[in-house]
Amino acid sequence: MTNVKKRIDELRTQIDNHNHRYYVDASPEISDRDFDRLLEELKSLEEQHPDLLTADSPTQRVGGKPIAGFVTVRHREPMLSIDNSYSADDLREFDKRIRKLLGGEPVTYVVELKIDGVAMSLTYDDGVFTTGATRGDGEQGDDVTHNIRTIGDVPLKLPEALPHFEARGEVYMTRAAFAANNRRRIAEGDEPAANPRNFAAGSLKLLDPKESRKRRLQFFAYALGPCEGVTVKSHLESLDLLRRFGFQISPNIEAFDTIDAVIDYCNSWATKRHDLGYETDGMVIKVNDFAQRKRLGTTSKSPRWVIAYKFAAEQGMTKLVSIDLQVGKLGTLTPVANLEPVKLAGTTVSRASLHNADFIEAKDIRVGDMVVVEKAGEIIPYVVRSEPEARTGSEKVIQFPTACPACGSPVERDKNGVFYRCTGGRKCTGQIKEVLRAFARRSAMDIEGLGEKIIEQLVDAGLVNGIPDLYRLTLDGLVALERMGKKSAQNLLDGIAASKERGLARLLAGLAIPHVGDSVADLLANEFGDVEALTSASADRLNEIPGIGPIMAQAIHEFFQDDHNRRIVDDLRALGVKLAQDQRPSPAQTGGVDLTGKTFVVTGTLARYSREDIEALIRQLGGKPTGSVSNNTSFLIAGEKAGSKLDKAKQLGVTVLTEDEFDKLIAKESG
Ligand code: IVH
Repeated sequence: MTNVKKRIDELRTQIDNHNHRYYVDASPEISDRDFDRLLEELKSLEEQHPDLLTADSPTQRVGGKPIAGFVTVRHREPMLSIDNSYSADDLREFDKRIRKLLGGEPVTYVVELKIDGVAMSLTYDDGVFTTGATRGDGEQGDDVTHNIRTIGDVPLKLPEALPHFEARGEVYMTRAAFAANNRRRIAEGDEPAANPRNFAAGSLKLLDPKESRKRRLQFFAYALGPCEGVTVKSHLESLDLLRRFGFQISPNIEAFDTIDAVIDYCNSWATKRHDLGYETDGMVIKVNDFAQRKRLGTTSKSPRWVIAYKFAAEQGMTKLVSIDLQVGKLGTLTPVANLEPVKLAGTTVSRASLHNADFIEAKDIRVGDMVVVEKAGEIIPYVVRSEPEARTGSEKVIQFPTACPACGSPVERDKNGVFYRCTGGRKCTGQIKEVLRAFARRSAMDIEGLGEKIIEQLVDAGLVNGIPDLYRLTLDGLVALERMGKKSAQNLLDGIAASKERGLARLLAGLAIPHVGDSVADLLANEFGDVEALTSASADRLNEIPGIGPIMAQAIHEFFQDDHNRRIVDDLRALGVKLAQDQRPSPAQTGGVDLTGKTFVVTGTLARYSREDIEALIRQLGGKPTGSVSNNTSFLIAGEKAGSKLDKAKQLGVTVLTEDEFDKLIAKESG
């Protein structure tokens, strides 16, 4: 063995050990700095000797190239779901059933926390991590290997080179990482994620592993999948094996011989769980012995040997002190209740949305009322009901104001009577702020440095009265603002200037066009290519686009007929903002796949792709998904129960592809 190879091996072992100490044992032995040094040394050796680079090298965690789209993976054995239970009685029923089926023999239950994350199957071939797949529909899921590699506590290599090994478990985000990630999002002008589970799921769906690495996901293993060369006889043994192989196993796992002890243990976590660093939504109770599991078998949906015990959403009673009205980007006033702080599900709740006037009327909620508030995990608090019996007579029926709290313009109830709106229109400062927030958002124009506070300042100082004003800001103007140094002013100007190049899709996503979110914006940009073609499109023309219905079509058309909006577009053009569609990734970036000029229609139910996913993939590769079959259609992709579109395609001689053939087509295109 050469010296270089020896050093590389040594570095890898060291780094893996430190990773394990850091993530699994939570007791790092060296500083982050020293750790980075080891990693840097390894990286540079691998760069100099690319032939020595292997997939299991710890350098591969830092995130490779973005992928072009998701591939589906079929699970060797399905990932089944579990039945739920909600009470001690449910658990006693479960126990009775088990004991009966097992003819009264002794049973040991293993009780674990139910981690609130995303179920994952990790495959190792010959001891090397090869595939991470989501549960999907249980039979097949998404290949998210590129993102799993970035998770620090997933071993990339096992201590034994077993021919096939699968670990199943949960990818999750700690509360601390969730808070840090959300802070980052808010600073970047994005909507915060609702809860850690959604954030984790979203992170796994990212195409770019460099981005998902930043999310600091973690993994708990809780079961073995199908393995070759492994003999374990019970759940506890399989957990031991997983632990020995370097996986992180929840430390809160206990075994019991009676259901009463199981119930006590479950109850002991009902409140204690809020002190954990991550979210749990219940407990999982599993029969320990594999021979017994086999005899118990499974129903069509779930194994009979396991049950989940879900904790109830926590409720609390508190006083509704006052109401704030938030002005939305279309002028809608949303009432938000200020509550006397109450501790629920481990956090203090002091605000809850009351949604709209109907919600308030239906629940007869008044200022000063005692109200029941509910919160499950990190889910947004919800006002369940008011307590009219507790009234003292000083409570006040909630009146919507006649003047907008932000700008003082008259307030009107809309046609359907559900919402109140500020009539100040574009002059309402509340509305302007929301419009700017939506514009600067990460998934829209992604303007670095333009967060909520700065927007507030810019509008209040009268420097910005609408989107185009952002591009008219000057260094002198900004520096005159309170607490704004020259450096941060310049950074903000740079951020704004950089946003000029985002392209049409992102611009449309940021323009607050009614009903137009990020994906419709994408659709419009792809369809029209530049803003001129879009502004002159009739509602009928828009309605023809698959994915756009008549209401949306009308709203988009009206938006661009409006003088004010046209002026915004003209101003943006004059100010140098790019109004054409971004270049889509080059064939080199998508692995050579190029479907430019090809039109696809998808029909029937596909096994591995959702309709949105396959259409997004086609679009990303340059092709055009459309809704109806014509002479211009290049391919029809037909799934189960394909109907009239398939007939029409056959009639017109359009090439019909199965899902597999489509996969082959794009594989062939990519050489
Ligand atoms: S065992 C067939 N153990 O809960 C049984 N599941 O609602 C396989 N989950 O899809 C699952 N923590 O994603 C098991 N300690 C745990 C778990 C757990 C969380 C999830 C898992 C599953 C879902 C079922």
